[in-house]
Amino acid sequence: ADSLRALAAKVGLRFGSALIPSDLDTPAYAQIAAQQFSVVTPGNEMKWQVVEPEQGVYDWSGADNLVAFAQANGQLVRGHTLMWHNQLPNWLTDGVANGSISATELAGLLKNHIYTEVGRYRGKIWQWDVVNEVFANSWDTPTANGLVSTDFWIQNLGEGIVYDAFRWAHEADPHALLVINDYNITGEDGTNAKFDAVHAWAQKALSQGVPVHAIGSQAHLDTQYGFPTSMADDLRAYADLGLKTAITEADVRTFVDGPTTQVPTDRLAPWAQANWWAGMLQAALSSPDCISFTVWGFCDADSWVPGTFSGEGAACLYDVNLNPKPAYTDLQSNL
Ligand code: XIL
Repeated sequence: ADSLRALAAKVGLRFGSALIPSDLDTPAYAQIAAQQFSVVTPGNEMKWQVVEPEQGVYDWSGADNLVAFAQANGQLVRGHTLMWHNQLPNWLTDGVANGSISATELAGLLKNHIYTEVGRYRGKIWQWDVVNEVFANSWDTPTANGLVSTDFWIQNLGEGIVYDAFRWAHEADPHALLVINDYNITGEDGTNAKFDAVHAWAQKALSQGVPVHAIGSQAHLDTQYGFPTSMADDLRAYADLGLKTAITEADVRTFVDGPTTQVPTDRLAPWAQANWWAGMLQAALSSPDCISFTVWGFCDADSWVPGTFSGEGAACLYDVNLNPKPAYTDLQSNL
């Protein structure tokens, strides 16, 4: 059968993966990366901590490497990510904590970071995840607009900094598609509260002329919570605002050594994961403004899941030996 990349192209969708540059030294991995996907997202290599480890000292090697790989293989690039509370360089967070970096200086540093990075790759990035994970979960204290009040950026610079980040990114590359990216925003939280906040925020941003072009749903699913049945409707509702949508970090994790909490048995059945994957793809396909479907790493060997969610894993389309899993064939037959 054809590759995911080729099958998706026929229905106007781009199928992508996050990649890790060192993995590309393994020929079998590089071959899958090139053949199956038409979009590349650097998994870590464009994050601030990586690109500017010391103030004013830049390391673009990993990002350059992945952009070159993508260009060599006729793939587009999703830039990830410009403003996020995680994986910031120590010089920045320490400077804010000890008062040597003022709020005004912090805003200037962010602006410079966005101009520098977006400017460097101007014309080479299809979509930028400008702002990542600023929306409040049920356990957070929300701001008036539903953002996380304790988020590093919001706490130090206020909610308006999110708008500024989009304006700066747009100035630095007027042709890049600018994305607001987050998790649990297509029904994964069960209540759709986070979807409501993102939807309202986007509506307001658009009414104020902020250059936001797309909503990125990370879509890190977990079989123990049940499938987010509102995903298709939520994607369509974002599109109704005049925005594009993208699935940006798809994976479907499950308990690998039996459940550590009580979970309905059907959610742990081997076919559950493949069904979740297919359901996600169908949701994307049913929304005409959904432009890309990106997986957060394609093989279980380098998935972020085991390191982050204790007892869980097996979240990807390929197993640790780079063999395609049932989910892979299910996606193929759904394309
Ligand atoms: C993860 C990477 O995959 C890991 O290698 C890293 O240690 C931590 O970050 N949401 C995001 C991604 O937006 O940037 C995160 O990536 C996974 C969750």
